[in-house]
Amino acid sequence: MSAHITVANTNVDMPVKEGTIGPSVIDIGKLYGQTGMFTYDPGFTSTASCESKITYIDGDEGILLYRGYPIEQLALNGDFLETCYLLLYGELPTAAQKADFDYRITRHTMVHEQMMRFFQGFRRDAHPMAVLTASVGALSAFYHDSTDISDPTQRMIASMRMIAKIPTLAAMAYKYSIGQPFVYPMNSLDYTSNFLRMCFAVPCEEYKVNPIVSRALDRIFILHADHEQNASTSTVRLAGSSGANPFACIAAGVACLWGPAHGGANEAALKMLQEIGSVDRIPEYIARAKDKNDPFRLMGFGHRVYKNYDPRAKIMQKTTHEVLSELGIKDDPLLDVAMELERIALSDEYFIEKKLYPNIDFYSGITLKAMGFPTSMFTVLFALARTVGWIAQWKEMIEDPSQRIGRPRQLYIGERQRDYVALNQR
Ligand code: SDX
Repeated sequence: MSAHITVANTNVDMPVKEGTIGPSVIDIGKLYGQTGMFTYDPGFTSTASCESKITYIDGDEGILLYRGYPIEQLALNGDFLETCYLLLYGELPTAAQKADFDYRITRHTMVHEQMMRFFQGFRRDAHPMAVLTASVGALSAFYHDSTDISDPTQRMIASMRMIAKIPTLAAMAYKYSIGQPFVYPMNSLDYTSNFLRMCFAVPCEEYKVNPIVSRALDRIFILHADHEQNASTSTVRLAGSSGANPFACIAAGVACLWGPAHGGANEAALKMLQEIGSVDRIPEYIARAKDKNDPFRLMGFGHRVYKNYDPRAKIMQKTTHEVLSELGIKDDPLLDVAMELERIALSDEYFIEKKLYPNIDFYSGITLKAMGFPTSMFTVLFALARTVGWIAQWKEMIEDPSQRIGRPRQLYIGERQRDYVALNQR
């Protein structure tokens, strides 16, 4: 099949490529050469940037598959490191493969001791995302033996190190922000329990991980692990296309995720629920969200791809109830506001017409706050989980033989050529 267009009296035939499932694409690679024109799609709403086998999203049906497996099945049956293995290697691990993977990840969780000094340069009140962005980038200053991206062995070592060390750096960012000593990883604990202990243990007493909380957080990590070509993943791919080392590419992804329109929405959504404060103030905020002249948006609502319920939000809501009841939090006013806000929004013509549903960020903040994390750590947790997705997508891009540096063009609307005017004549 091919697509035909006629532009500037030129007939152009462009091949149509079909995927396994989902929309086909029109390969416009030769368009500029044949017409002297570019396509124009600033938000990439109709643009596929690559081929990928990792994650599939059907926004209309609310479907999310990691390597073909539905997110609901992975979240309810597996653990996060199993999902990491699946995203990296494309298949669910056997028991032996899982044990080996867990062993290797566990034994890369420490960071270079000099990273502690690196942290000392930050103000204690620095946002943990600022600290995480910097410390992930700093890894390339410590691990020169795994930055040669042309070497598959070094690529895999760097991938394992990144997945293994991100919880340690995230926990260090938290501890530093509250003035408590860093806690070293403990190899006897599983990935998520280790992270919880590094965040909440203190030298003065034994820390006992709550297995229900650990399981819930592990599931939250699975939900956040990958999501096709979202803004931060596209950032990682573009940075990686220049040959930059993986630690620098992941740091670029962390920086992009921080924005409130993207991964920063979980922090913004909780702040919004706190600002609304009570159910009787919801109509005022719904009106503001609908007001064209008001920049306010319902944080945690809407999505570029999902025009149906975000499947992750459903699991997130269920997990929220589990955690609150395990922690004996009977009536959380924020949860009351969130559930009433969702009910009202989903029956409001504006949200129905614009197909705005809760996304993964709508409920996550309530759960993370109940677990004891401050709001400023919410996006750090998102980045922790998304690191495996960024690494898997970066690896796929590097291993693609047709891979070239990403270099978009533009529609120039500036000045025509003009001559310089000397200072004394302006
Ligand atoms: C994530 O890409 C991914 O996959 C991201 C992510 C991942 O896992 O990587 O899923 C994670 O980032 C989830 C999204 C978190 N962000 C938020 O919750 C912030 C609030 N949401 C919006 O800012 C917005 O919905 C976006 C950014 C998520 C999507 O923006 P789009 O696709 O560019 O849509 P848009 O801004 O063009 O909105 C379409 C219409 C507009 O109205 P019109 O101009 O057509 O009249 O819907 C309105 C918007 O005003 N709208 C909202 C709204 N979101 C969109 N109105 C009120 N509240 C909102 N939240």
